[in-house]
Amino acid sequence: MKLLALILILQSLEVVLGSWYSLATTEYFVNASGKIVKSYKAAVEACALMNATLALVKTEQVHSFLVEKIGNVTSIPYSFYIGLKRSNVSTTGFQWNDGANETASNTLWLKGEPNNNYRIENCVQMGLREPRKIILYKWNDVFCNAPGRYICQRSGAITPTASKSPAPYYVIAIVGIIFVAAAGCALFYFKKKGNPASEKQVTNDAV
Ligand SMILES: *[C@@H]1O[C@H](CO)[C@@H](O)[C@H](O)[C@H]1NC(C)=O
Ligand SMILES: *[C@@H]1O[C@H](CO)[C@@H](O)[C@H](O)[C@H]1NC(C)=O
Ligand SMILES: *[C@@H]1O[C@H](CO)[C@@H](O)[C@H](O)[C@H]1NC(C)=O
Ligand SMILES: *[C@@H]1O[C@H](CO)[C@@H](O)[C@H](O)[C@H]1NC(C)=O
Ligand SMILES: *[C@@H]1O[C@H](CO)[C@@H](O)[C@H](O)[C@H]1NC(C)=O
Repeated sequence: MKLLALILILQSLEVVLGSWYSLATTEYFVNASGKIVKSYKAAVEACALMNATLALVKTEQVHSFLVEKIGNVTSIPYSFYIGLKRSNVSTTGFQWNDGANETASNTLWLKGEPNNNYRIENCVQMGLREPRKIILYKWNDVFCNAPGRYICQRSGAITPTASKSPAPYYVIAIVGIIFVAAAGCALFYFKKKGNPASEKQVTNDAV
């Protein structure tokens, strides 16, 4: 019964921490097999539910960190909304959801993007499956009502970042080992206590 309770606690811990990864003082929510939303607006809401906002993927460092966490998306859609939108539908500039204009060098845009296809692509996702099944997870302007996954971020300054990133399996493994070790010791102790003669026997035999 106690073991069951422990397993349940550890499982809920995994659900909470499982998809969050720390980089410096920011935590990012990435789950390649997680929920799919039907629009940019729904992505904003999904992040807000976790007290977070769509991710600011402004640097190569943040981008490659997130790409590593994405791993492989195995089903459509292959793209993730980030917190970047065309600032004005009649202009070419893009603006981050923190109010900053997008000024990065073009290295994070996919080749040929942003192309404002059909003049309706005002939101940005990172992803897109290229020919030959390559996903670069670079920026691409999309229709704001396109389905997609999403990457959120929140401040990680509230709690220490140290044990955050690899938390779930790590924590489960350590707690599991301690638990098994403790159970083993207890078993050994009670066995010994229950039959003191056997210990003497062993000792005598050994001598
Ligand atoms: C990702 O989302 C799926 C579906 O909600 C969930 O089953 C899985 O545990 C999540 N992965 C992580 C690492 O949290
Ligand atoms: C959301 O964040 C705000 C400010 O950062 C905090 O006051 C509030 O408690 C948080 N809510 C939840 C549900 O974590
Ligand atoms: C993603 O899939 C490709 C092709 O199947 C594979 O070569 C690559 O190692 C995978 N990457 C990860 C991070 O799993
Ligand atoms: C968008 O740009 C047009 C043309 O430059 C301008 O007239 C309009 O006021 C701008 N709208 C916003 C919301 O900035
Ligand atoms: C963003 O760019 C627009 C148009 O170029 C400009 O009017 C605005 O002041 C800029 N905003 C910031 C926060 O730099």
